[in-house]
Amino acid sequence: MTNTAFSTSVLNWYHQHGRKHLPWQQDITPYRVWVSEIMLQQTQVTTVIPYYLRFMERFPTVQALAAAEQDEVLHLWTGLGYYARGRNLHACAKAIVEQHGGEFPRSVDALADLPGIGRSTAGAIASISMGIRAPILDGNVKRVLARFYAVDGWPGSPAVQKDMWDIAERLTPAHSFREYTQAMMDMGATLCIRSKPACGICPLQPDCQGYASGKPTQFPHSKPK
Ligand code: ADE
Repeated sequence: MTNTAFSTSVLNWYHQHGRKHLPWQQDITPYRVWVSEIMLQQTQVTTVIPYYLRFMERFPTVQALAAAEQDEVLHLWTGLGYYARGRNLHACAKAIVEQHGGEFPRSVDALADLPGIGRSTAGAIASISMGIRAPILDGNVKRVLARFYAVDGWPGSPAVQKDMWDIAERLTPAHSFREYTQAMMDMGATLCIRSKPACGICPLQPDCQGYASGKPTQFPHSKPK
């Protein structure tokens, strides 16, 4: 399967089945997408929605967030867990206001230098909200790609990590990368799930090496003991 056939298949699936009406998919801005990506890191979409709406109501801009007391930010985070995310979010808003004049920097590298923004989140913000073609490789996408290519080795190791970023980079299409990025995350979250993946309705199944192996859930390999 060519890279283009892969992304076309993913995009077709997205047009038919992907999520397109989530709160952060309306009025797309770097600020709104950034907050959603941080909230979604370890928390499911349905849980995030009410927190996201309350958060945006109280902090509609990065300036409003930067000016808040940390206690109030963490109070709105109560129930989402992983409070380091809330603290980093506040620190990041301050850095954007104090060091970037209140504008999100427009490159993956500069985004990834900000508190709490790793390479994959930087790629998601850039591709979803800035029109910058950038790969992502969060846990969901890693699982899709590790299965599709039956990637050997543990994805936490630097060598496998690098291979997977190279794969993610070459599969990212030149156009429609915003939809492609969203689609890969949705496929990882809804079809290519950790146990009992829905291979029967997956558009990538005919070419999936993990499926062909008969044991797709053995990918990605777990950490060697
Ligand atoms: N997990 C992280 N970011 C996400 C997104 N934009 N959509 C669905 N799940 C996600």
